[in-house]
Amino acid sequence: MKMTTISHLRAKKQQQSKFASITAYDASFARLFEQEGIQVMLVGDSLGMTMQGHGSTLPVTVDNIVYHTQCVRRGAPTCLLLADLPFMSYATPAQTFESAATLMRAGANMVKLEGGSWLAETVKGLTERAVPVCGHLGLTPQSVNIFGGYKVQGRDEDSAEQLLRDALALERAGAQLLVLECIPVALAQRVTQALVIPTIGIGAGNVTDGQILVMQDALGITGQGTPKFAKNFLAQGGDIRSAVSGFIHDVEQGLFPGPEHSFQ
Ligand code: KIV
Repeated sequence: MKMTTISHLRAKKQQQSKFASITAYDASFARLFEQEGIQVMLVGDSLGMTMQGHGSTLPVTVDNIVYHTQCVRRGAPTCLLLADLPFMSYATPAQTFESAATLMRAGANMVKLEGGSWLAETVKGLTERAVPVCGHLGLTPQSVNIFGGYKVQGRDEDSAEQLLRDALALERAGAQLLVLECIPVALAQRVTQALVIPTIGIGAGNVTDGQILVMQDALGITGQGTPKFAKNFLAQGGDIRSAVSGFIHDVEQGLFPGPEHSFQ
């Protein structure tokens, strides 16, 4: 099988063909996801919550992401693999380059970082040094203590405009993908239409170019309920393989997320 690259995702955007992606943290699930047709995976710092049992993503280290990136890469050799730069691992240029190089050596194809225009120089610096970057705007979980909780972002006109400016600044700086998390559908649509690069939504409606779910949410195995923006595909799928193919099908057909999973 051929490697999935960012060029495939750009082509999908041009063809208005939606794609599904999912977080992965280990080789077995990664293998199954790839076999079922998932071409984009993320080793998210959500592993702090899903794998380590913390209440936030803040305790996650670069070494943690490296370990899980190596596991996922062994299971899914051809996927486009994104790896999160964890909290405070991109605070200075030197630290950013070292963290990103470590993740790329572990098997990532792209690093993801959370934040807006203020990261433009960081994105530019990484891109110039051959590290592809995915931005992440909206509800950025590393900022939970600034937000005062996990809250939908971009609901008022000023913050919506700011988010759009941030998205354009990240694209101009060289970002190749953009995750939009927990924002109103109309804003996700504006951003997706304004950008050349593909957007990947989670809690942003079915208007983004791709969708991503945390795998435990998609399989209903958090033991803590399913968030509004997610769906337990295992409940309808019967087994994990059918759940994953159901997720891919529903995303590609624009059936997931429905209005009941979205914010207005
Ligand atoms: O850490 C993560 O899993 C993420 C996704 C929710 C996009 O950033």
